[in-house]
Amino acid sequence: MDLEKIKNTGINAAYKSAEILNGYLGKLTTIHKKGPIDLVTEADIESEKQIIATIRSKFPEHEILAEESGLDKSTPSIYKWIIDPLDGTTNFAHQIPIFSISIAFAINDEVAVGVVLNPVSGELFTAIRGHGALLNGNVICVSNEHNLSESLLVTGFPYDLAQMLDPLMIRFKRCLKGAGGVRRLGSAALDLCFIACGRFDGFWEEHLKPWDTAAGSLIAEEAGAMLTDFSGNPYTIDKKEILATNSLIHSELKSILEI
Ligand code: IPD
Ligand code: CA
Ligand code: CA
Repeated sequence: MDLEKIKNTGINAAYKSAEILNGYLGKLTTIHKKGPIDLVTEADIESEKQIIATIRSKFPEHEILAEESGLDKSTPSIYKWIIDPLDGTTNFAHQIPIFSISIAFAINDEVAVGVVLNPVSGELFTAIRGHGALLNGNVICVSNEHNLSESLLVTGFPYDLAQMLDPLMIRFKRCLKGAGGVRRLGSAALDLCFIACGRFDGFWEEHLKPWDTAAGSLIAEEAGAMLTDFSGNPYTIDKKEILATNSLIHSELKSILEI
């Protein structure tokens, strides 16, 4: 499998979707709700259709899992694309320029290529397994912060947070108390890419979906991040919890996330 060709197809699809999303930014006419606070817009749908069409034109036999249309079962394969056509829809709907397009490619469920693009800043994060992570073509790596008390952390909150508010708040409170600072950006894919380039030292979140983390988790890993669940077991994209750090603060942060 030519992973450079896969990566370039992902990048091409991401740039085409960036034009779509930038075209809709501030001009949305329809916003639907998938749940009480879970939004989907015409931009999500159009971006996803375009990404799928671009991939299908090059790799018609591959499997595709995309957030809005689900798993396309027509072409079962060991090669699977995992797509979030707009990660950060709430930000997008409020014209906050922190959102991304996330495209990953997995072989036998192991992510091999990741592409994350912020259409507003133009920052493109990419990785091929075993070949490091890049930001706009330059090699990136995680921070070297050793102390949790000096660390800048980032987190996110699931749409069904009402059902898990107590454990969520316990963890949030402990991190607020133990770290140098905590942010909530609103795009899990960018959270992971910001770990990769050393802007954040640690990221934790519960109830994310494979399309939120597939590309970003590989980019973070390739930049030297450690990724586990809250118990320290290796992270896989079907897990309910993610903890990603620069590795140096991992055990300290893990110990305060365990309830
Ligand atoms: C959301 C974002 C957000 C995270 C949510 C996700 P969406 O994705 O990644 O940062 O906190 O849990 O669902 O819905 O904007 O694609
Ligand atoms: Ca998402
Ligand atoms: Ca999305």
